[in-house]
Amino acid sequence: MRVSGTNSICAVILYALTLGYQAHAIELDINNEQSIKDAAATATYGMMVWYHGNETGQIPGAFPSKWWEGSALFYALLNYWHFTGDSTYNDELSVGLQWQSGTNGDYLPSNYSHFLGNDDQMFWGLAAMTAAELKFPDVSNGFSWLSLAQGVFNSQKGRWDTTMCGGGLTWQMFQYQGSGYTLKNAISNGGFFQLAARLARYTEDNEYATWANKVWDWSVNSPLVNNKTWLVQDSTEGTNGCKDGANIPWTYNYGTYLMGAAYMYNYTGDQQWLDATNGLLNMTLQTFFRKESGFVMEDVTCEPREICNNNEVLFKGLLSTWLSYIALVVPTTYDLIMPKLQTSAVAAAKSCTGNNNNTCGVQWYKSQWDGWTGMEEQISVSQVFSANLLPFVQSKAVAPVTSSTGGNSTSNPSAGLDNNKTDSTPTLITTGDKAGAGILTLIFVGGWIAFGAFALMGSGV
Ligand SMILES: *[C@@H]1O[C@H](CO)[C@@H](O)[C@H](O)[C@H]1NC(C)=O
Ligand SMILES: *[C@@H]1O[C@H](CO)[C@@H](O)[C@H](O)[C@H]1NC(C)=O
Ligand SMILES: *[C@@H]1O[C@H](CO)[C@@H](O)[C@H](O)[C@H]1NC(C)=O
Ligand SMILES: *[C@@H]1O[C@H](CO)[C@@H](O)[C@H](O)[C@H]1NC(C)=O
Ligand SMILES: *[C@@H]1O[C@H](CO)[C@@H](O)[C@H](O)[C@H]1NC(C)=O
Ligand SMILES: *[C@@H]1O[C@H](CO)[C@@H](O)[C@H](O)[C@H]1NC(C)=O
Ligand SMILES: *[C@@H]1O[C@H](CO)[C@@H](O)[C@H](O)[C@H]1NC(C)=O
Ligand SMILES: *[C@@H]1O[C@H](CO)[C@@H](O)[C@H](O)[C@H]1NC(C)=O
Repeated sequence: MRVSGTNSICAVILYALTLGYQAHAIELDINNEQSIKDAAATATYGMMVWYHGNETGQIPGAFPSKWWEGSALFYALLNYWHFTGDSTYNDELSVGLQWQSGTNGDYLPSNYSHFLGNDDQMFWGLAAMTAAELKFPDVSNGFSWLSLAQGVFNSQKGRWDTTMCGGGLTWQMFQYQGSGYTLKNAISNGGFFQLAARLARYTEDNEYATWANKVWDWSVNSPLVNNKTWLVQDSTEGTNGCKDGANIPWTYNYGTYLMGAAYMYNYTGDQQWLDATNGLLNMTLQTFFRKESGFVMEDVTCEPREICNNNEVLFKGLLSTWLSYIALVVPTTYDLIMPKLQTSAVAAAKSCTGNNNNTCGVQWYKSQWDGWTGMEEQISVSQVFSANLLPFVQSKAVAPVTSSTGGNSTSNPSAGLDNNKTDSTPTLITTGDKAGAGILTLIFVGGWIAFGAFALMGSGV
């Protein structure tokens, strides 16, 4: 078809108008509660289009190729419901978070357990812990949320490894998983520390506080956490006596130790924990909210070079959520934390212009869509939006509860103890299993230089 001059000008104008419309970011007025709720609803809807666990023939909560990510999605849904009051997704949340708990109630379901790392299991435990702390109703015919967190704790406690470096959890659970079996990493240990600290505060059972102290003491005596500089390193090699650390900064490694310290301060009131909270918070803000990025949250190890993998895209969402809880349990941190969360959410909203459907990107600091599309992007943005409702709901008793401040999830201190080692240690791992284990795709060749290269791709999960 031949297009006349006039027509083509019209077409150009129309096209420009359409483009303008297409490039519409998520509207976000950071000082307006309803605006933040609407933004959170949009990002969370964009997250849930990736979730099929409630459809016929699908398995609730199952993400076969990236099992741990289900816990991140449910974690985001818990915060979304808690801070916005929108219960649209609560049924899927309840069913999925329960379904994946496994017959033993410790988040080692036999479909996946033979290729899981301690960190994978831990993240589901933290999601269940959050459900208990937010008074998300227990199900009537299953494990209570608190008991699931206790089951994960008991299971991990049984794997505390004193054969190398005097303690610590290894990244992987089984020898056949390769070198990850001798690597002691920050997220596994910091995650166990956080879980123990939150259980201590919720139940006031001192066994959990004892373990939180034990994991902390081991961590600060290892290269993982430096209690003078507050550097948190990614991992340290057990076969090398944990002499050196891989100094590769990730938001979630700092965030998980920070959460544990904040909860321990809230529980004990001890100055030691306030110092740790302030020190770790200072380093976290300094490292991941850089001036050159407009103080917008950024996983500095992967974002500038655009090499973030799916695991890593989720880390900022976790840090966003954790910072909002830290501001609640250690109120003196609120004024430091809130402006950083606000700046990050404003930038994140501007990244949600993708695909003509409000797809959000990875590099929030660019304040425009960077071309990335995925469930992980949506999860992190949902979390940073929910976290920004804090100023509006602060007066409404939103702080995580304990068993003495209204929490009534049923306790079972010996949850998960029937099966410390997990049931399935298959003699043969099928190709299907390997494909299922994102974490197993890392092949360790030993040596720090080689390790560093792999760790850059994220030792996470
Ligand atoms: C947005 O578009 C992308 C790319 O087509 C798609 O994968 C995603 O599911 C869409 N999201 C929504 C909320 O429609
Ligand atoms: C699954 O949940 C979504 C969102 O809540 C809902 O729109 C959809 O109808 C549900 N599907 C089924 C099969 O229940
Ligand atoms: C494990 O796999 C079976 C068979 O596909 C399925 O029925 C079951 O729901 C799965 N369990 C979990 C926890 O994913
Ligand atoms: C599991 O480990 C705990 C200690 O961590 C121990 O008391 C218990 O007996 C173990 N259970 C089994 C079945 O091995
Ligand atoms: C740092 O940790 C070491 C080892 O546990 C401990 O001896 C020291 O007292 C700690 N320092 C501070 C300031 O807490
Ligand atoms: C961290 O602490 C140092 C020393 O007290 C201070 O100069 C710096 O501004 C702090 N950084 C942040 C981000 O709060
Ligand atoms: C512990 O957290 C609660 C709930 O946010 C808060 O009211 C209380 O002041 C905190 N306690 C301490 C010692 O910070
Ligand atoms: C916990 O309290 C809620 C009301 O806040 C109630 O509906 C629920 O049955 C209670 N759960 C238990 C296990 O007592």
